[in-house]
Amino acid sequence: MIQYRLLCVVWAGLMMACSTSVPQDMELQLIPQPKQVVPGQGNFKLNENTVLKIASEGEGKEYGELLNTMISAIAGYELLLRDEGENVIQFVIDTAFRSGKAEAYQLQISPGSISVLANSSAGLFYGTQTLGQLLADRQFYQAGKKRWNLPVLTIEDEPVFSYRGLHLDVSRHFFPKEFVMKCLDLMANYKLNRLHWHLTDAAGWRIEIKKYPELTKRAAWRPQANYMDWWEGDRHYTTEDADGAYGGFYTQDEIREVVAYAARRHITVVPEIEMPGHSEEVVSIYPQLGCYGKPYRNGELCIGNEETFEFVENVLTEVMSLFPSEYIHIGGDEASTAAWKKCQKCQKRMKENGLKNEKELQSYMIHRVEKFLNSKGRKLIGWDEILDGGLAPDATVMSWRGESGGIKAARMGHDVIMTPGGYCYFDSYQADPRTQPAAIGGFLPYLKVYSYYPVPEELTPEEGKHILGAQANVWAEYIPTTSHAEYMIFPRLLALSEVVWSPREKKETEDFKRRIAYHIGWLKEKGVNVFTLSDHIDMQTEVDTLNRQLKITFDAEKYKPEIRYQIDDGQEQVYRRPFYVKDSARIKAFIVENGKPSEEVLESRVDYHRAIGKKVTYQKRYSGSYPAAGTGTLTDGYRGGLTYGDGRWQGFLADVDVLIDLDTVCNLNYVSANFMQLTGPGVYMPRYVVVSVSVDGVHFQEVARIENQVPSGEKSLVIRDFTTRFRARGRYVKFFAKRQNGFQFIDEIVVY
Ligand code: ACM
Repeated sequence: MIQYRLLCVVWAGLMMACSTSVPQDMELQLIPQPKQVVPGQGNFKLNENTVLKIASEGEGKEYGELLNTMISAIAGYELLLRDEGENVIQFVIDTAFRSGKAEAYQLQISPGSISVLANSSAGLFYGTQTLGQLLADRQFYQAGKKRWNLPVLTIEDEPVFSYRGLHLDVSRHFFPKEFVMKCLDLMANYKLNRLHWHLTDAAGWRIEIKKYPELTKRAAWRPQANYMDWWEGDRHYTTEDADGAYGGFYTQDEIREVVAYAARRHITVVPEIEMPGHSEEVVSIYPQLGCYGKPYRNGELCIGNEETFEFVENVLTEVMSLFPSEYIHIGGDEASTAAWKKCQKCQKRMKENGLKNEKELQSYMIHRVEKFLNSKGRKLIGWDEILDGGLAPDATVMSWRGESGGIKAARMGHDVIMTPGGYCYFDSYQADPRTQPAAIGGFLPYLKVYSYYPVPEELTPEEGKHILGAQANVWAEYIPTTSHAEYMIFPRLLALSEVVWSPREKKETEDFKRRIAYHIGWLKEKGVNVFTLSDHIDMQTEVDTLNRQLKITFDAEKYKPEIRYQIDDGQEQVYRRPFYVKDSARIKAFIVENGKPSEEVLESRVDYHRAIGKKVTYQKRYSGSYPAAGTGTLTDGYRGGLTYGDGRWQGFLADVDVLIDLDTVCNLNYVSANFMQLTGPGVYMPRYVVVSVSVDGVHFQEVARIENQVPSGEKSLVIRDFTTRFRARGRYVKFFAKRQNGFQFIDEIVVY
């Protein structure tokens, strides 16, 4: 007996030793990456004649049928499920498995059997999803013969985070239930388990409430189909039967259908009913629930009015009857305090309850609503503004304004879901905005999503346990159609899936690029309007001050693309490894796919220029929010990319007014700097740039004044250089850029 156990331990040790990768000729295409894959020898052969003996114990039939839907979608046939047969497939629930980890599973493929073992049906479901991804992998399938050779292996798997979410805003634009179900199917494929359904907002109330039928009769419809047209217009509502009415809502039967559909995929639907802000549509129908008693004035519910609480409780009662979710999301974000300040009822409420300010008034409301939800056995979750004015005792915080709200809440012992804008807002651009449909702003390529880890380093391990997971948010202001929504969600959601499911040490960017390329093909076959990744080439420069040269490296978000490049007018060559540039060079690079060059071409000038490493003095400070690398950043040789938030662009809410000291007097003939314009977030070109030089640092000679050529009304991203060529001698260069409006961003001042 002892010898046998020893043998097992040795065997387990051997398995572990080779568990980090599968053999060279068997690269799996699984997303999210499982915790552990142990390859074996041989195959499980599966063809039309395979009779699967479903083990009588466990959940055989249900999962056998699920497996059959996967097989039939690929091969067009189903297997006979019998009590006896050559090949055994077992789905077994063993309550002792993994000491109660509900979502863990083991998938074992042997030459004569497949078994999925878990301690709950959620685990079996995820094991079957993994099996489904193996079936979908072309390397194991002979399409002509419609049969599989599945590799012998053992997968041990479980998620790192228990909350793995996707949020969907159906108010700004309405997406029918069929689309929601399609999202649920895809979420299940990637082991996500929470759909946060943003059902109400100014742009439309989307859930039938029997007690308040007017909400869906009159606040679910608007004259303009496009949200931005409505928002920039008078923001009025209309009725369904009005000419050209746009909108919609889900009946309670439809909600129940979606919730049940999700539950079969082990997804909980978390409903969000916005309060006290983002409620213009409610106040338009029931003006007495707003402080002004009039529609179309503001979007905040009156907290001084008892009727508001009656309304909210009645709505939530119906919501709870439809959604079994423990969490009920009450919004809580972006409420203006202006109306409450002027409202007698609100002021009275504050006085009676000793509330010091309007933030505490909002907090009063959230506390009351939490008590109500708790009394019905539910838990309150809200956006991080619910921290302001005092957090309700058991509330869970969804941290969206960065991670700071989440950190604060976790330190207070509250649970947190991370959804920081910089990593989780899928309404942001996913590639160069100049190549993309209009989006709200931001820049979030899938690899940035992939780089995220939801537990901030500043938390202690104990505090970190309060971070339950992360969620992608899909706000629909700029997403008018379901096909556009798919484009924004996929493939970024796959990156998030691995962020929340896989162990951090299992994440590997190059390998993820390989797998995501495969899944993009799969999603396309499934009829998903997936973004097929950009042809953007990311050029990295490394400044080598010792040899006075720049090391140039290319990277791309596509997997191992063929990159061709040209330096100045030299020969075009295939990029194989980093190369060096002395002085300056014009670089052109592009991707070649199936022999065709990409439309997107990188054209950039790199400079090992005279000012690199030289001292810069600021007459006016740069913004503390966008310091880039601080006072050395404008002469460090590093250029900014497509987003001002990349740590290379330095932001100014003032004129740029700097002095560069070149250490010695020399001949000068060239000064150039790039600026960025993106008017959505308030980033503008300078009005003009003035360059002056001086020998002694006292007497300056203006050598150029360069006027801005980019119209301030140009909304899309522009990166433009302000360049001057001249002849002068000097040691000091003064660079002045007159601020036009909002921010200006500059990355480098090139001097020759
Ligand atoms: C939010 O993005 N207003 C939560």
